[in-house]
Amino acid sequence: TEYISVGELAELMGVEVSEVISTLFNAGMIVSINQRLDADTIQFVADEFGYEVEFITDYNELEIEIPEDRPEDLQPRAPIVTVMGHVDHGKTSLLDYIRKTNVVAGEAGGITQHIGAYHVELPDGRYITFLDTPGHEAFTAMRARGAKVTDIVILVVAADDGVMPQTIEAINHAKAAGVPIVVAVTKIDKPEANPQRVLQQLAEHGVLVEQYGGQVQCAFVSAKTGEGVDDLLEKVLLEAELHDLKANPNRPAVGTIIESRVEKGRGNVATVLVQNGTLRVGDPFVAGVTSGRVRAMFDERGNRVEAAGPSIPVLVLGFDELPEVGDQFVVVPDEKEARAIAQKRQQIRREQMLRKQRRISLDEISRRM
Ligand code: GTP
Ligand code: MG
Repeated sequence: TEYISVGELAELMGVEVSEVISTLFNAGMIVSINQRLDADTIQFVADEFGYEVEFITDYNELEIEIPEDRPEDLQPRAPIVTVMGHVDHGKTSLLDYIRKTNVVAGEAGGITQHIGAYHVELPDGRYITFLDTPGHEAFTAMRARGAKVTDIVILVVAADDGVMPQTIEAINHAKAAGVPIVVAVTKIDKPEANPQRVLQQLAEHGVLVEQYGGQVQCAFVSAKTGEGVDDLLEKVLLEAELHDLKANPNRPAVGTIIESRVEKGRGNVATVLVQNGTLRVGDPFVAGVTSGRVRAMFDERGNRVEAAGPSIPVLVLGFDELPEVGDQFVVVPDEKEARAIAQKRQQIRREQMLRKQRRISLDEISRRM
């Protein structure tokens, strides 16, 4: 496993990146600033600079063994897509447009409910799941917790503004997470739009679109007129096909907590993105250091649902305590076992917190892992 990059490690220790690079060079390793390091290398560098490293166990992985699926049990699943980009470049407008034009016909009923993620059916019957919440911070938080939820990042860049600091941040996040990018150059309806300039700027930051001989797909869109949006969705689906996204719907559910809150009259509720298996009302589960049983589930339109398969986000009622964003959600055979696992994890976490309090210098390094 690779943990943090050379640059991040230097920052944590408060030394120049060049010092870390030259330390590694002297040890016979040639690294770049964005290169991610394994545990042994981090340990080595930290030693050289007089730091100790503590590798915190991720309690998400404790006490539950998730069996691998047999290849013949896997079926195609919808891609899970996160939209990222600079402030005001049109992320929400683009998602709103996509959602508005792809609402399942005849689905009256329920008031639209914010659940942080939604599942869109395209006219040809294919699906895409969009994550709404992940601003960069949420994305980083999830990545720090080891939660891998996004298959594809749509990088939104406004044609009238070009590549900006948060665009670069988004590029770095996607690269560090190893998630493929599809570029959406947006606001092309504006008179001052200059999409070609955007492509050139992206190239300067290592994102080579197809028009520049690269591999990254790119669409020119307007959330105002809708121009190019179908093309963008087509490209997202094409990218998804390249990655052969699959899951096994016929097994107990495994997923990730996308958001959580306390609701009046409903208690602890959380949006669970099911990543494998099928989640059903009545299922006992563990989520991070809490547990529970699914009392009820709702889709993003507030309709009750009985079951949710791979790539489907659902609002779940029935958590004993509020789970955290990025917590892994796993269905287990019975509620008693669920509670026992959650308690054991709480115990481990308490012990780790105590240890961390005594070793302040390590805290930062641990936290990022
Ligand atoms: P933050 O969530 O604040 O980072 O912004 P955002 O990226 O979600 O941008 P948002 O969708 O809120 O759009 C910002 C502004 O740009 C709004 O005034 C939109 O109406 C406008 N806008 C977004 N997309 C387009 C577009 O395609 N064409 C035009 N003309 N305006 C757009
Ligand atoms: Mg927005």
